[in-house]
Amino acid sequence: MQTIKDVNPNRLPKHVAIIMDGNGRWAKQRGRLRIFGHENGVEAVRQTVENCARISIDFLTLYAFSTENWNRPKKEVQTLMKLLVSSLKKELDTLNKNNIRLRAIGNIDSLPQKAQIELEEVMQRTEKNSGMTLTLALSYGSREELKTAVKAISIKVKNNIISTDNIDDTVINTHLYTHFLPDVDLLIRTSGEHRISNFLLWQIAYAELFFIDVFWPDFREHHLVQAILSYQNRERRFGKTSEQLH
Ligand code: IPE
Ligand code: IPE
Ligand code: MG
Repeated sequence: MQTIKDVNPNRLPKHVAIIMDGNGRWAKQRGRLRIFGHENGVEAVRQTVENCARISIDFLTLYAFSTENWNRPKKEVQTLMKLLVSSLKKELDTLNKNNIRLRAIGNIDSLPQKAQIELEEVMQRTEKNSGMTLTLALSYGSREELKTAVKAISIKVKNNIISTDNIDDTVINTHLYTHFLPDVDLLIRTSGEHRISNFLLWQIAYAELFFIDVFWPDFREHHLVQAILSYQNRERRFGKTSEQLH
């Protein structure tokens, strides 16, 4: 089994994003409620965050709750929010020990008050950390993010703050939740599903995609390493020919 030692430190993805999928099916396989899967997903989050920090990944973004996930049964949504609060409380020290800064993207105002307060607290208390930036996507949807950006830019155009001719990638980037993040280099999705589910649509324009057939609660160091090694074996051409790159 491959370990972190097998990763080439000179060719690291700067920004890794993960669609953590398969908690429900993991639980179902064991004849348990979906909630049991979410509870066990927390340990995979903990290990993945620490492993990414050990590998020296600069930015790790985790899809924890989508705008569409609000449509799940109320009980499940409540449990997910409770798990968020308890994990934030529990992990503050570990984040600080690993020099990790916590950020959040998404419609944070729509989260329960308790979650907002805890999130704010942990973000503040890790603000000065200079190692990895861990970003949680919470009540996040790419289409909502883009709609919000288009509206904000339109208002600025209307008020002559920017002109239509000046709308470029940078202007759009600065109006997204992800304004503090570089583009995604490597996007991982667990659970065997091959879709993006409204995650970072603009930001993954040239990301390398890695789909893996394990349910999120089973995701461990060797899976992460497998994804990064796959990334390191690819040629990113950004529209150019292979000859141009060498
Ligand atoms: C991912 O696992 C966690 C969230 C979306 C919050 P799921 O809950 O989607 O698990 P499956 O895909 O139904 O197995
Ligand atoms: C995507 O998973 C959202 C998160 C992992 C938070 P879903 O399970 O909600 O996606 P679909 O519904 O299978 O596309
Ligand atoms: Mg799912």
